[in-house]
Amino acid sequence: MINVAIEAAREAGQFLKESVGKVRTIEIKEGEERNMVSEIDRGSEERIIRIIRRHYPTHGILGEESGSSTPGADYKWVIDPLDGTTNFLHGLPVFSVTIGIEHRGEIIAGVVYDPNQDILYTAEKGSGAYMNGERMHVSKTEKLINSLLMTGFPYDVARNPGHTVEHFVSFLMEAGAVRRFGSAAIDLCYVAAGKLDGFWEVNLNPWDMAAGVLMVKEAGGTLSDFEGSPLSIYDKKVVASNGVIHSAMLGVLAKHRS
Ligand code: IPD
Ligand code: CA
Ligand code: CA
Repeated sequence: MINVAIEAAREAGQFLKESVGKVRTIEIKEGEERNMVSEIDRGSEERIIRIIRRHYPTHGILGEESGSSTPGADYKWVIDPLDGTTNFLHGLPVFSVTIGIEHRGEIIAGVVYDPNQDILYTAEKGSGAYMNGERMHVSKTEKLINSLLMTGFPYDVARNPGHTVEHFVSFLMEAGAVRRFGSAAIDLCYVAAGKLDGFWEVNLNPWDMAAGVLMVKEAGGTLSDFEGSPLSIYDKKVVASNGVIHSAMLGVLAKHRS
């Protein structure tokens, strides 16, 4: 299955890269004036689903653009065909294709492809996480003040859901540095690769994190919700870290509770 995911992610990623600057129609997603979508997001998802269906016609699929099909199947492919749409539409080369595979509710494999750097991230449950075939390990940074953290902002940031703004300010005050790149899937892979020490975000969707959370887990990292409970990709709030700074990150998040 992971080879099918890799084939699909590479084909879709190539399509995205070739499509930069060639978008014809941009639409706004219902009720979210910052959330844009184009025919390229949909074209990427069609390519991915065509490849999956060719090999696994009875599996379930949850795709950001086409929704859910074959619900109740043992296997479910969770797909974001273009993670980083805002960057893509502006020609900023930070976006990815991300595909996670669930078996009876548990993520067993994940692939993230960054077509701009031609980097393929892969993980299978129990077998480690890899970046272009090289094993990934989380960082060893011990203190929040020395850490490089990443976050993202939801499209409804103006409503300040879950104290998004206060959390961002608190981490600015307490961490070594904070970044915002615009592709949650890549952000999580950077935690797995030890380039970042931690990541948090509110209001993520399952397709943003399905593959990335397995990368972090298989690279030896820690994942939870904002309260420290086990993470579900359907729960919206995620904290991912090297494990060492996890409780310090939860401490910062605990300063502002909804
Ligand atoms: C978005 C990106 C971004 C995150 C947003 C997501 P999209 O996904 O992952 O980094 O901050 O919350 O919605 O819309 O580009 O697929
Ligand atoms: Ca996304
Ligand atoms: Ca997307």
